Amino acid sequence: MISALTRFIFLVCLAFIAAFIALYNWGPEWAIFIGISLLSIPLVYSYINLARLGKYVQSDSVENMPLPSGFWEEVFFRLQRLVRALKQRIRNIEQQHDHFIEAFQASPNGIVMLDENDQIEWCNAIAERFFGLNFKRDVLQRINFLIRRPEFIQYITKRHFDEPLLLERMGQHSSLSLMLQAFPFGNQRHLLLIQNVTDLQKADAMRRDFVANVSHEMRTPITVLMGFLETVQSLDLEKSQRDQYFDMMMSQAQRMKSLVEDLLTLANLEANSLPATTNKINVETLMALLRNDAEALSQGTHSFSFNMIDKDCVLGDEREILSAFSNLVSNAIRYTPDAGEIDVKWRVNAQGQGEFSVTDTGPGIASEHLSRLTERFYRVDRSRSRDTGGTGLGLAIVKHIASRHQAQLLIESTPGKGSTFTLQFPKERLAP
Ligand SMILES: Nc1ncnc2c1ncn2[C@@H]1O[C@H](COP(=O)(O)OP(=O)(O)OP(=O)(O)O)[C@@H](O)[C@H]1O
Ligand SMILES: [Mg+2]
Repeated sequence: MISALTRFIFLVCLAFIAAFIALYNWGPEWAIFIGISLLSIPLVYSYINLARLGKYVQSDSVENMPLPSGFWEEVFFRLQRLVRALKQRIRNIEQQHDHFIEAFQASPNGIVMLDENDQIEWCNAIAERFFGLNFKRDVLQRINFLIRRPEFIQYITKRHFDEPLLLERMGQHSSLSLMLQAFPFGNQRHLLLIQNVTDLQKADAMRRDFVANVSHEMRTPITVLMGFLETVQSLDLEKSQRDQYFDMMMSQAQRMKSLVEDLLTLANLEANSLPATTNKINVETLMALLRNDAEALSQGTHSFSFNMIDKDCVLGDEREILSAFSNLVSNAIRYTPDAGEIDVKWRVNAQGQGEFSVTDTGPGIASEHLSRLTERFYRVDRSRSRDTGGTGLGLAIVKHIASRHQAQLLIESTPGKGSTFTLQFPKERLAP
């Protein structure tokens, strides 16, 4: 600024000197003309630079304007530095804002920001999906006009925000369970966090079912057992009668034992998430064991055929594979009436997969039951299944073992004709 002032004083002195020289040589008109002309040079120079500045301001590119020389150079230089710093700050804020939005969008939870009137200020894509919202369309709409569930409207209007709210049967197919809670922030604003708890709710329902089923299955044999014990205790029975009661008590105890064993097997399979080992298992040896057990269980009431069409071995856990195979064979025996035929086969199919199949001429299973057979405790006919000592855990165990061997359990059945249960092992699980 000092140099600019010096320059201005220098110009004024120059104008006076020139005016005096002109006055002395050509008269007063020339002196006024030359003096005013020299004094107006900085005005013209300033006007030109301001006009240029105006042009660059209009096109929002002040920082690109070439710097003039002289007084305006420093002013424009400072102005450009200020504009650049401001623009950089805006860019940083925008970037930060974008990062926040990206982070909120990446969240697996739904997020809705509400203003002090419960109007939607922002929401992420998950929240849009959960509630069928469309941010562009619904921005600044009151949330309770868009989510019309009475319990939600009550939650929002009564401001019970200390507790989360569970909304069931939400989403496009009414299949979602959502847990939401509002958290206050800023000036009477609220952040609505929505979590998809469908799987947790399902697991909880399964756990409740499981406990109910186990208690139910245990209660029957325990009640029967206690009844027999009371009889034996209170009545003076003859030895043959007492032995008969003891036999019946034994069979009830046996039933409870096999239920507990099955539950433990399932628990072990579920806890052990590592893939099954890859020992080489000779299927022919297993077939011989299966035949012995099958004949003992059937006691001559069924006719069997055991066919080893191919000799390939299975790579897996021998104990688990034997348990899965014998579950299928024992089901065939237990659900096929006397004189029925049971065909057990091991072969490699055209796709190179190993197939262990058990076909029976039993009652068959109606198609609506097929997809549920591998659920724990699922039985087609509870009374008949209980007669055979079944608890509905066998096929659940088979399915677990199959998945640990990357195998599939396929069930084909025609009511009145019979069923075929096939365990299909991938090529990689076979060895010569
Ligand atoms: N070969 C079959 N023929 C007809 N129905 C069958 C056959 N195998 C299974 N089922 C039906 O599927 C149901 C489930 O079988 P699963 O082996 O899981 O249980 P379960 O035999 O009842 O009891 P568990 O095997 O635990 O002793 C059975 O209750 C039965 O109704
Ligand atoms: Mg069974």
